[in-house]
Amino acid sequence: MKATIFIDKHFVIGDVDKRLFGSFIEHLGRAIYTGIYEPGHPLADKRGFRLDVIDLIRELDVPTVRYPGGNYVSSFNWEDSVGPVELRPKRLDLAWRSVEPNLFGLNEFMEWTKTVGTEPMMAINLGTRGVEEARNLVEYCNHPGGSYWSDLRKSHGVAEPHGIKLWCLGNEMDGPWEVGQKTADEYGRIAYETAKALKLFDPSIQLIACGSSNNHMPTFPDWERTVLEHCYDSVDYLSLHSYYGNPDNDLPTFLASSIEMDSFIKSVVSTCDFVKAKKRSSKIMYLSFDEWNVWFHSRAADEKVQPWQFAPSLLEDIYTFEDALVVGTLLITLLRNSNRVKIACLAQLVNVIAPIMTVKNGPAWRQTIYYPFLHASKYGRGTVLELKVESPWYDNRQYGDVPFIEATAVENRERGELTLFVVNRSTGEAVDLELNLQSYSPHHLVEWIELHHENPKASNTKKNPETVVPHKVNKNVVIDGRSIQLQLGPLSWNVIRLALT
Ligand code: AHR
Repeated sequence: MKATIFIDKHFVIGDVDKRLFGSFIEHLGRAIYTGIYEPGHPLADKRGFRLDVIDLIRELDVPTVRYPGGNYVSSFNWEDSVGPVELRPKRLDLAWRSVEPNLFGLNEFMEWTKTVGTEPMMAINLGTRGVEEARNLVEYCNHPGGSYWSDLRKSHGVAEPHGIKLWCLGNEMDGPWEVGQKTADEYGRIAYETAKALKLFDPSIQLIACGSSNNHMPTFPDWERTVLEHCYDSVDYLSLHSYYGNPDNDLPTFLASSIEMDSFIKSVVSTCDFVKAKKRSSKIMYLSFDEWNVWFHSRAADEKVQPWQFAPSLLEDIYTFEDALVVGTLLITLLRNSNRVKIACLAQLVNVIAPIMTVKNGPAWRQTIYYPFLHASKYGRGTVLELKVESPWYDNRQYGDVPFIEATAVENRERGELTLFVVNRSTGEAVDLELNLQSYSPHHLVEWIELHHENPKASNTKKNPETVVPHKVNKNVVIDGRSIQLQLGPLSWNVIRLALT
C-alpha cells in the first residue's frame, strides 16, 4: 500500500497548550494508596510518596494532574482531608463503595505536585455540596491569611497559599451514577453561581464547567447548550469525557475509535459556537478533555469486588499493544484539535486505568500505553500543522471508510524540529509512505521511534515489564530534497523526528 502526507508550514492548526498532556489521580482503588502514596515502601520518602512512581511520572512530564475525582468528588467533604491526620474521619465513599481514611488529603496532594513538578487541577463537589463549600475551599487554598479558612490552613502547617489556578466545577453532573446528579438547568445555575463567587474571590482563576459525561448520554448535546446558556460568560472551559474499548474483540473497529473522539470534539465545538452566536459573544469557549483513555478490561472483575474495602484493586486494566495503538490515535486526534482543546487528562495516572502500575511493597512499571503518551508529551509540544493525508482506506461496519494512516505533525521552533506521529492501522500490510514537505527542507532524520509487537494482545506485566517497548528504527529512509520515503510496518505507532536546520 502507498500513502502520501503533504506538510506545509503555512497551514497551521494552532499552538499546543502543554496542559494537553495532563493526567488524573482520583481517590479510587489503588491510585493513591499503594499507588503514589505508600508509607513503609522501600522506595517511599519520609512523607510516604513512592519515588519510583514519581520518577516514572517525571519522565512523562505531566504538566497538570486533576484531583481528587472523578465520581469521588461528588460526595467528598474537602474538610475531612485536611488537618492532623489522626483527627481526620474515616468515611464511606459512595462513588466507589470503598473506605476512605483520609490519610492522604489536599495538602499532601499539593506537596506531592511540587515534588513531581506538576500543577494541580482541583475538582469541587457540586453533587452533594454547593457555592459555600466551594468558596471556603478556594479561600482555604488560595488566600494568604487573615481570614477564617486561610488561617485554618496556616494552623495546619501550610503557611503559604497554594495558589491553585484551575478548578473543575463538579464532575459528570448529568450521570445517573453521580451522587447529586442534576438536570442541565440545575447544574447550569449552580455552575454559574459558583463561578460568580469564585471569580469575585479571584478573577484570574480558570474554571471548567461539566459537559456531558460522554457523547452517548441521551441528553448530549442539549446538556452542553443548556449549561452554557447559564454560564457561558463565567467559565473558561467546557469538559469532555470519553473512554474506548474492544469488548467484542473487533480490532479494525477498535482501531478506529479516534474517529468517534474527533466527531465528539467537533460536535461540542459546534454546540459552544451555537451558544456563542446566540449570546452575540466574542468569547471562544475552549475545551478540557479531562478524562480520556481505553477502559474495558477490568469491568467484569470490578463487578465482583466486595464493597467497603480500603484501597481495593479497581479499574486495573492491563493494557495490550493494540490499546497503545488506540491511545496513539487518540493523542493524534487531541493534537489535531489543539486549536480548541487546551487541556486533556489521560485518565488516570497510576494503577487505575493507568500508564503506570505498581505492586504493594513491590515494583512499579510502564504499561504499553505509557509509550505513546510519553512520546506525545516529549515531542508533541509546539505548533500543530494541518496535514493533507492521502491514505488507502478500509471499510468498517461502525465507522465507514477508515484511513489506514492516521497522522499529525508538530513543529517545535526552539528545537528546530518537525515531528510526525503516524499510526498504521493495517493489521497485515506495510505502507510505503511519502512525506511531501512542501515548504520545509529537512536537514536530516533525528530519529524514528516505532512501537510494534507481533501480538496485538501482548502486555507488560510485573513479571515481564518490557514485553512491549519502543525501539529505534534503522530502516532505510530516503531524503530527496523535500520528499522523504519510508516504509511503516503494519500495526505500528511511529514518531519521526526531522531536524529543520
Ligand atoms: O476515571 C474513572 C471514572 O470515570 C471517573 O471517576 C468518572 O468521572 C468517570 O465516569
